[in-house]
Amino acid sequence: MEAINCSRYGWMYFAMLLSILSVGARANTNKVYSPCMDATVHKNDGFTFGLAFASNKSFFYNKIQLSPCDSRLAEKLREHKISLFRPQVDEVTLLLVNHTEINPENVEGGGFAVAYAGKKHAVVSAPHFLANSSYRITSLSLVLNFEQGRLQNILWKNDGCKSCLGNSSFACVRGECAIQSTACIEAGGRVDCSLSIQLTWSGTDQRQEVLNSWYQMSNLNQYSLYGLYSNLKSTLTDRFSNMIRFAKSP
Ligand SMILES: *[C@@H]1O[C@H](CO)[C@@H](O)[C@H](O)[C@H]1NC(C)=O
Ligand SMILES: *[C@@H]1O[C@H](CO)[C@@H](O)[C@H](O)[C@H]1NC(C)=O
Ligand SMILES: *[C@@H]1O[C@H](CO)[C@@H](O)[C@H](O)[C@H]1NC(C)=O
Ligand SMILES: *[C@@H]1O[C@H](CO)[C@@H](O)[C@H](O)[C@H]1NC(C)=O
Repeated sequence: MEAINCSRYGWMYFAMLLSILSVGARANTNKVYSPCMDATVHKNDGFTFGLAFASNKSFFYNKIQLSPCDSRLAEKLREHKISLFRPQVDEVTLLLVNHTEINPENVEGGGFAVAYAGKKHAVVSAPHFLANSSYRITSLSLVLNFEQGRLQNILWKNDGCKSCLGNSSFACVRGECAIQSTACIEAGGRVDCSLSIQLTWSGTDQRQEVLNSWYQMSNLNQYSLYGLYSNLKSTLTDRFSNMIRFAKSP
Protein backbone atom coordinates (compact mmCIF):
# COMPACT_ATOMS: atom_id res chain seq x y z
CA MET A 1 0.00 0.00 0.00
CA GLU A 2 1.28 3.42 -0.82
CA ALA A 3 0.44 6.57 1.04
CA ILE A 4 0.52 9.67 -1.07
CA ASN A 5 0.48 13.03 0.58
CA CYS A 6 -0.65 16.04 -1.36
CA SER A 7 0.86 18.38 1.19
CA ARG A 8 -0.12 21.47 -0.69
CA TYR A 9 -3.67 21.17 0.56
CA GLY A 10 -2.94 18.82 3.39
CA TRP A 11 -4.94 15.98 1.85
CA MET A 12 -3.86 12.46 2.55
CA TYR A 13 -5.48 9.55 0.84
CA PHE A 14 -4.61 5.96 0.26
CA ALA A 15 -4.79 3.78 -2.76
CA MET A 16 -4.43 0.06 -2.52
CA LEU A 17 -2.71 -1.87 -5.24
CA LEU A 18 -3.71 -5.43 -5.85
CA SER A 19 -1.61 -7.32 -8.32
CA ILE A 20 -3.88 -9.79 -10.04
CA LEU A 21 -1.34 -11.26 -12.40
CA SER A 22 2.21 -11.52 -11.26
CA VAL A 23 4.36 -8.59 -12.21
CA GLY A 24 8.10 -8.99 -11.82
CA ALA A 25 10.38 -6.67 -9.92
CA ARG A 26 10.54 -3.38 -11.74
CA ALA A 27 12.71 -0.35 -11.51
CA ASN A 28 10.84 2.82 -10.67
CA THR A 29 12.77 5.88 -11.71
CA ASN A 30 9.97 8.38 -11.11
CA LYS A 31 10.46 10.07 -7.74
CA VAL A 32 7.50 12.42 -8.15
CA TYR A 33 4.70 11.29 -5.83
CA SER A 34 2.51 14.39 -5.89
CA PRO A 35 -0.11 14.77 -8.63
CA CYS A 36 0.63 18.50 -8.56
CA MET A 37 4.22 18.28 -9.79
CA ASP A 38 5.67 17.57 -13.22
CA ALA A 39 7.07 14.14 -13.97
CA THR A 40 8.78 12.52 -16.93
CA VAL A 41 8.31 8.78 -17.03
CA HIS A 42 9.60 5.55 -18.47
CA LYS A 43 7.61 2.42 -19.15
CA ASN A 44 7.05 0.58 -15.83
CA ASP A 45 7.52 3.68 -13.66
CA GLY A 46 4.80 4.55 -11.20
CA PHE A 47 2.89 7.66 -12.24
CA THR A 48 0.77 9.66 -9.81
CA PHE A 49 -2.43 11.37 -10.90
CA GLY A 50 -5.58 12.52 -9.17
CA LEU A 51 -9.31 12.29 -9.64
CA ALA A 52 -11.44 15.12 -8.29
CA PHE A 53 -15.19 14.74 -7.77
CA ALA A 54 -17.41 17.84 -7.77
CA SER A 55 -20.05 19.73 -9.71
CA ASN A 56 -19.19 20.70 -13.28
CA LYS A 57 -18.95 24.37 -12.40
CA SER A 58 -16.40 23.80 -9.61
CA PHE A 59 -13.78 22.98 -12.23
CA PHE A 60 -14.04 26.38 -13.91
CA TYR A 61 -12.67 29.78 -12.95
CA ASN A 62 -14.00 32.71 -14.96
CA LYS A 63 -15.36 30.15 -17.46
CA ILE A 64 -11.89 28.66 -18.03
CA GLN A 65 -11.29 25.11 -16.92
CA LEU A 66 -8.28 24.79 -14.60
CA SER A 67 -6.47 21.88 -13.00
CA PRO A 68 -7.51 21.13 -9.41
CA CYS A 69 -3.82 21.81 -8.59
CA ASP A 70 -4.32 25.45 -9.56
CA SER A 71 -4.62 27.55 -6.43
CA ARG A 72 -7.45 29.56 -7.99
CA LEU A 73 -9.66 26.46 -7.73
CA ALA A 74 -8.53 25.54 -4.24
CA GLU A 75 -11.41 27.33 -2.51
CA LYS A 76 -14.06 25.89 -4.82
CA LEU A 77 -12.71 22.37 -4.44
CA ARG A 78 -11.83 22.42 -0.76
CA GLU A 79 -15.01 20.66 0.25
CA HIS A 80 -14.84 18.11 -2.52
CA LYS A 81 -13.35 14.68 -2.84
CA ILE A 82 -9.95 13.88 -4.23
CA SER A 83 -8.59 10.43 -4.88
CA LEU A 84 -4.97 9.76 -5.81
CA PHE A 85 -3.63 6.79 -7.72
CA ARG A 86 -0.18 5.60 -8.68
CA PRO A 87 -0.53 3.00 -11.43
CA GLN A 88 2.37 1.65 -13.47
CA VAL A 89 2.98 3.24 -16.86
CA ASP A 90 1.55 1.17 -19.74
CA GLU A 91 -0.23 -1.32 -17.50
CA VAL A 92 -3.96 -1.68 -17.96
CA THR A 93 -5.37 -0.75 -14.56
CA LEU A 94 -8.80 -0.84 -13.03
CA LEU A 95 -9.52 1.92 -10.51
CA LEU A 96 -12.35 1.28 -8.09
CA VAL A 97 -13.93 4.24 -6.41
CA ASN A 98 -15.98 3.66 -3.30
CA HIS A 99 -19.28 5.20 -4.20
CA THR A 100 -20.45 5.95 -0.67
CA GLU A 101 -17.41 8.19 -0.24
CA ILE A 102 -18.29 10.44 -3.18
CA ASN A 103 -22.07 10.25 -3.62
CA PRO A 104 -22.06 12.11 -6.95
CA GLU A 105 -25.84 11.87 -7.29
CA ASN A 106 -26.18 14.29 -4.37
CA VAL A 107 -24.20 17.05 -6.05
CA GLU A 108 -26.43 19.85 -7.29
CA GLY A 109 -26.65 19.73 -11.09
CA GLY A 110 -24.99 16.30 -11.10
CA GLY A 111 -21.62 14.93 -9.97
CA PHE A 112 -18.67 15.15 -12.36
CA ALA A 113 -15.07 13.96 -12.26
CA VAL A 114 -11.81 15.22 -13.74
CA ALA A 115 -8.46 13.42 -13.91
CA TYR A 116 -5.38 15.61 -13.56
CA ALA A 117 -1.61 15.75 -13.08
CA GLY A 118 1.24 18.23 -13.40
CA LYS A 119 1.99 21.79 -12.41
CA LYS A 120 3.88 23.85 -15.00
CA HIS A 121 2.58 21.37 -17.57
CA ALA A 122 -0.78 21.03 -15.86
CA VAL A 123 -3.03 18.57 -17.65
CA VAL A 124 -6.68 18.02 -16.82
CA SER A 125 -9.38 15.95 -18.51
CA ALA A 126 -12.72 17.41 -19.45
CA PRO A 127 -15.26 17.10 -16.59
CA HIS A 128 -17.07 13.80 -16.99
CA PHE A 129 -20.66 13.28 -15.85
CA LEU A 130 -20.97 10.56 -13.18
CA ALA A 131 -24.42 10.76 -11.69
CA ASN A 132 -27.49 12.73 -10.79
CA SER A 133 -30.69 11.71 -9.06
CA SER A 134 -31.92 9.91 -12.22
CA TYR A 135 -28.84 8.14 -13.64
CA ARG A 136 -25.51 6.72 -12.58
CA ILE A 137 -22.55 5.85 -14.78
CA THR A 138 -20.74 2.85 -13.33
CA SER A 139 -17.98 2.18 -15.80
CA LEU A 140 -15.59 4.62 -17.48
CA SER A 141 -12.51 4.38 -19.62
CA LEU A 142 -9.60 6.81 -19.31
CA VAL A 143 -6.51 7.17 -21.53
CA LEU A 144 -3.34 8.95 -20.39
CA ASN A 145 -1.43 10.16 -23.43
CA PHE A 146 2.31 10.90 -23.15
CA GLU A 147 4.93 12.35 -25.46
CA GLN A 148 8.52 11.47 -24.61
CA GLY A 149 7.43 10.59 -21.11
CA ARG A 150 5.59 13.84 -20.43
CA LEU A 151 1.82 13.79 -19.96
CA GLN A 152 0.11 15.58 -22.88
CA ASN A 153 -3.58 14.97 -22.31
CA ILE A 154 -6.11 12.83 -20.51
CA LEU A 155 -9.11 11.59 -22.45
CA TRP A 156 -12.35 9.85 -21.51
CA LYS A 157 -13.38 7.17 -23.99
CA ASN A 158 -16.67 5.42 -24.42
CA ASP A 159 -18.02 2.67 -26.59
CA GLY A 160 -21.27 4.40 -27.55
CA CYS A 161 -23.27 2.03 -25.29
CA LYS A 162 -22.26 -1.13 -27.17
CA SER A 163 -21.48 -2.93 -23.92
CA CYS A 164 -24.99 -2.51 -22.47
CA LEU A 165 -27.13 -2.68 -25.59
CA GLY A 166 -30.24 -4.71 -24.98
CA ASN A 167 -29.86 -4.81 -21.21
CA SER A 168 -32.95 -3.23 -19.69
CA SER A 169 -31.07 -2.29 -16.49
CA PHE A 170 -29.21 0.32 -18.51
CA ALA A 171 -30.05 3.49 -20.40
CA CYS A 172 -27.75 5.14 -22.93
CA VAL A 173 -27.01 8.59 -21.49
CA ARG A 174 -24.71 10.91 -23.48
CA GLY A 175 -23.28 7.89 -25.32
CA GLU A 176 -22.62 5.92 -22.16
CA CYS A 177 -24.22 3.09 -20.26
CA ALA A 178 -26.02 4.43 -17.21
CA ILE A 179 -28.10 2.73 -14.56
CA GLN A 180 -31.27 4.26 -13.19
CA SER A 181 -30.31 5.53 -9.75
CA THR A 182 -33.36 3.93 -8.19
CA ALA A 183 -32.00 0.49 -9.12
CA CYS A 184 -28.84 1.02 -7.03
CA ILE A 185 -28.36 -0.55 -3.61
CA GLU A 186 -27.99 2.86 -1.92
CA ALA A 187 -31.47 3.76 -3.18
CA GLY A 188 -32.97 0.49 -2.03
CA GLY A 189 -32.49 -1.31 -5.35
CA ARG A 190 -30.51 -4.41 -6.17
CA VAL A 191 -27.72 -3.27 -8.51
CA ASP A 192 -24.22 -2.56 -7.23
CA CYS A 193 -23.55 0.83 -8.83
CA SER A 194 -19.94 1.27 -7.69
CA LEU A 195 -17.78 3.21 -10.10
CA SER A 196 -14.92 1.50 -11.88
CA ILE A 197 -12.51 3.28 -14.21
CA GLN A 198 -10.40 1.41 -16.66
CA LEU A 199 -7.08 3.10 -17.30
CA THR A 200 -4.89 2.66 -20.38
CA TRP A 201 -1.87 4.47 -21.84
CA SER A 202 -0.80 5.85 -25.22
CA GLY A 203 2.04 7.82 -26.80
CA THR A 204 5.73 7.44 -26.00
CA ASP A 205 7.89 7.33 -22.90
CA GLN A 206 11.06 9.28 -22.23
CA ARG A 207 13.14 6.82 -24.25
CA GLN A 208 10.63 7.00 -27.14
CA GLU A 209 9.29 3.54 -26.38
CA VAL A 210 5.69 3.22 -27.50
CA LEU A 211 2.99 2.90 -24.84
CA ASN A 212 0.42 0.67 -26.44
CA SER A 213 -2.00 -0.60 -23.81
CA TRP A 214 -4.75 1.72 -25.10
CA TYR A 215 -4.22 0.44 -28.61
CA GLN A 216 -4.45 -3.16 -27.39
CA MET A 217 -7.61 -2.55 -25.39
CA SER A 218 -9.40 -0.67 -28.14
CA ASN A 219 -8.54 -3.42 -30.62
CA LEU A 220 -10.04 -5.96 -28.28
CA ASN A 221 -13.14 -3.80 -28.08
CA GLN A 222 -12.91 -4.32 -24.35
CA TYR A 223 -13.88 -1.01 -22.81
CA SER A 224 -14.79 -2.47 -19.49
CA LEU A 225 -12.91 -5.07 -17.54
CA TYR A 226 -15.05 -4.58 -14.52
CA GLY A 227 -17.51 -7.37 -15.22
CA LEU A 228 -14.66 -9.81 -15.59
CA TYR A 229 -13.29 -8.96 -12.19
CA SER A 230 -16.33 -7.91 -10.20
CA ASN A 231 -16.04 -11.05 -8.09
CA LEU A 232 -12.94 -9.46 -6.59
CA LYS A 233 -14.82 -6.55 -5.19
CA SER A 234 -15.77 -8.26 -1.97
CA THR A 235 -12.07 -8.56 -1.18
CA LEU A 236 -11.51 -4.82 -1.41
CA THR A 237 -11.73 -3.16 1.94
CA ASP A 238 -9.74 0.02 1.57
CA ARG A 239 -11.49 3.04 3.02
CA PHE A 240 -11.58 5.38 0.07
CA SER A 241 -10.60 3.86 -3.20
CA ASN A 242 -8.92 0.86 -4.62
CA MET A 243 -6.85 0.06 -7.58
CA ILE A 244 -6.46 -3.25 -9.26
CA ARG A 245 -3.48 -3.64 -11.52
CA PHE A 246 -3.32 -5.99 -14.46
CA ALA A 247 -0.39 -7.16 -16.47
CA LYS A 248 -0.08 -5.48 -19.83
CA SER A 249 -1.89 -7.94 -22.03
CA PRO A 250 -5.37 -8.76 -20.82
C1 LIG B 1 -19.73 22.66 -17.61
O1 LIG B 1 -19.51 24.04 -17.39
C2 LIG B 1 -18.96 24.73 -18.50
C3 LIG B 1 -18.58 26.16 -18.06
O2 LIG B 1 -19.63 26.80 -17.43
C4 LIG B 1 -19.96 24.70 -19.64
O3 LIG B 1 -19.42 25.36 -20.77
C5 LIG B 1 -20.26 23.24 -19.99
O4 LIG B 1 -21.25 23.17 -21.00
C6 LIG B 1 -20.72 22.49 -18.77
N1 LIG B 1 -20.84 21.07 -19.11
C7 LIG B 1 -21.91 20.34 -18.77
C8 LIG B 1 -21.89 18.93 -19.21
O5 LIG B 1 -22.81 20.80 -18.11
C1 LIG C 1 -29.68 13.59 -15.17
O1 LIG C 1 -28.85 13.61 -16.32
C2 LIG C 1 -29.50 13.14 -17.50
C3 LIG C 1 -28.47 13.09 -18.60
O2 LIG C 1 -27.87 14.32 -18.80
C4 LIG C 1 -30.66 14.07 -17.83
O3 LIG C 1 -31.32 13.61 -18.98
C5 LIG C 1 -31.62 14.12 -16.65
O4 LIG C 1 -32.63 15.06 -16.88
C6 LIG C 1 -30.86 14.51 -15.37
N1 LIG C 1 -31.78 14.39 -14.24
C7 LIG C 1 -31.91 15.36 -13.35
C8 LIG C 1 -32.85 15.09 -12.23
O5 LIG C 1 -31.27 16.39 -13.43
C1 LIG D 1 -27.72 -6.42 -17.17
O1 LIG D 1 -26.84 -5.72 -16.29
C2 LIG D 1 -26.99 -6.09 -14.93
C3 LIG D 1 -26.13 -5.18 -14.08
O2 LIG D 1 -24.80 -5.21 -14.45
C4 LIG D 1 -26.59 -7.56 -14.77
O3 LIG D 1 -26.76 -7.96 -13.43
C5 LIG D 1 -27.47 -8.41 -15.68
O4 LIG D 1 -27.05 -9.75 -15.63
C6 LIG D 1 -27.44 -7.91 -17.13
N1 LIG D 1 -28.42 -8.61 -17.92
C7 LIG D 1 -28.15 -9.10 -19.12
C8 LIG D 1 -29.29 -9.74 -19.82
O5 LIG D 1 -27.01 -9.05 -19.61
C1 LIG E 1 -16.92 2.33 1.29
O1 LIG E 1 -16.98 3.37 2.22
C2 LIG E 1 -17.94 3.15 3.25
C3 LIG E 1 -18.03 4.41 4.10
O2 LIG E 1 -16.77 4.89 4.51
C4 LIG E 1 -17.51 1.91 4.05
O3 LIG E 1 -18.46 1.66 5.07
C5 LIG E 1 -17.44 0.71 3.11
O4 LIG E 1 -16.95 -0.41 3.80
C6 LIG E 1 -16.51 1.02 1.94
N1 LIG E 1 -16.60 -0.09 0.97
C7 LIG E 1 -15.52 -0.65 0.40
C8 LIG E 1 -15.77 -1.75 -0.55
O5 LIG E 1 -14.38 -0.28 0.67
